[in-house]
Amino acid sequence: MNFADVKARADGYRVASLPHRPGLEVSGRVRAVGERVEGLRVGQEVAALVDGGGYAEVVLAEAARVLPLPAGLDLRTAATLPTVLPTAHALVHEVGRLRAGESVLVHGAAGGIGTAVGQLARAAGAGAVFGVVSGDAKAAHALKYGYDEVFRSDTFDADVRRVTGGRGVDLVLDPVGGGTLRRGLEVLAVFGRLVSFGNAGGAEPWHAGQAELYPRGRSVGGFPVLALARSSPDDLRALTERALRTVLDGTVTLPVTAEFPLSDAADAHRLIGGRTSTGKLLLRTTD
Ligand SMILES: NC(=O)c1ccc[n+]([C@@H]2O[C@H](COP(=O)([O-])OP(=O)(O)OC[C@H]3O[C@@H](n4cnc5c(N)ncnc54)[C@H](OP(=O)(O)O)[C@@H]3O)[C@@H](O)[C@H]2O)c1
Repeated sequence: MNFADVKARADGYRVASLPHRPGLEVSGRVRAVGERVEGLRVGQEVAALVDGGGYAEVVLAEAARVLPLPAGLDLRTAATLPTVLPTAHALVHEVGRLRAGESVLVHGAAGGIGTAVGQLARAAGAGAVFGVVSGDAKAAHALKYGYDEVFRSDTFDADVRRVTGGRGVDLVLDPVGGGTLRRGLEVLAVFGRLVSFGNAGGAEPWHAGQAELYPRGRSVGGFPVLALARSSPDDLRALTERALRTVLDGTVTLPVTAEFPLSDAADAHRLIGGRTSTGKLLLRTTD
């Protein structure tokens, strides 16, 4: 087995998220290293993607999912990256295959992933970057991170038709599912792609078939960072390293908009649950 007892020390940070055992993204210092693990050493500053349970002072992480921090990347920033950055990169590039000049529509544009996607799409030479959010403060946030225009959830399809003269967009990135996903499919241009990466709306799993896809040559894809971590950790690692370069070269910044001690994690969840958070929230395990 290739497991490392990589244990983040108590001065690490945790990013708030909502899996079954909360906490997927962590950063800290390596406390111990398992047998046959190479390239990691005690005391090294790292970030890691774990299978939940990251709301803790010490976590166990698989070696392949532990990323030594390059020079210039601090622990605080690093805690925001392990899921958001590779996911955003895959949505724009590996799965979404955005080409220069194309248009993209991003749901949850003011969230952690949306904030990174806006900047990556802009850097990829997108012709137009459209966001969808639920309120004014979120719209203001998204407009600072690469978005040209930001629409509201209840009218985004009409807005897309209006601003594209009825053509639609080349790429839709959807973490919501259900009716939102179906409406997104309807605003895809000819040969457009939709990438599903979440089901925040809690609807039944989506299905798309001939009726939706054939007439205009549309396609639907998906991206699951945790499943990729299990099925193909080397591909995820290579993806993460590619994505990390965009932070190191200044293409992407991930703003930490609020920081809480771990004991106040419930407050972080209230912000997320109330749909009022933007960017990334951090949980701190020491004062
Ligand atoms: N597939 C993957 O590999 C992968 C990896 C990481 C995260 N995700 C998923 O991607 C989504 C975004 O992640 P994130 O880190 O950006 O999260 P985040 O910072 O909490 O942002 C999530 C955004 O989703 C929007 N949203 C739309 N409908 C929602 C609903 N019914 N309930 C709650 N939020 C809703 C919210 O924006 P508005 O209020 O403006 O609509 C919110 O800003 C999450 O659903 C997460 O589970 C998927």
